[in-house]
Amino acid sequence: MQSPILLGLVASGCLILAGCGDSGTGATSSESGAVAPPSAPALSDEEKLAVLASLPAPYNAADLDNGRRAFARCRSCHTITPGGPHLSGPNLHGVFDRRAGGLDKYSYSHALRNAGFDWDAAALDQWLQNPRDFLPGNKMTFAGLSKPEDRRDVIAFLKVETGYRPTQDGPAEQEPDAE
Ligand code: HEC
Repeated sequence: MQSPILLGLVASGCLILAGCGDSGTGATSSESGAVAPPSAPALSDEEKLAVLASLPAPYNAADLDNGRRAFARCRSCHTITPGGPHLSGPNLHGVFDRRAGGLDKYSYSHALRNAGFDWDAAALDQWLQNPRDFLPGNKMTFAGLSKPEDRRDVIAFLKVETGYRPTQDGPAEQEPDAE
């Protein structure tokens, strides 16, 4: 009962279902959309895979489904949709390349507010391994993701889902472009 979002979803799901159920016009009501994930301003699956493929190793080999599952551990405290609410933790949309502790409207710990770095995959990997050791004094009460694959997958998941776009700083290092 901690997540107003979940409650909201359940509630709207019930409404839709109730509407369908009451006046069953057809034997096969289309259930496909009824309990679908929240309005995704998101990419198509194809586009997500393209973003995934564009990530530097090892993230391009990540398992997005596992990343989604791992992110379930974060959802009670974080939303990832654009303009999503802050819960006990800040909204994470656009977190990559953003200054740590950089959102004005969220009340960060002193430690994170003044950490003085931008979030990238490497920093996030350390943070998620052990938030307390990575940045003493921060207020994210999360034990950490001990498995490297879970961190890899959740970071790739976040890149794909929080608006990161490959064209921004694509890893063009070793690609000898054909002319
Ligand atoms: C129990 C609640 C909780 C859980 C679970 C949690 N976080 Fe957090 N998270 C926080 C809080 C609170 C902060 C702000 C910390 C501070 O200000 O010191 C935070 C901060 C962050 C930040 C920094 C954001 C910024 O704007 O600088 C990132 C990134 C982050 N969390 C990612 C995650 C991920 C990914 C997970 C899951 C693997 C996770 N968190 C799980 C509560 C949580």
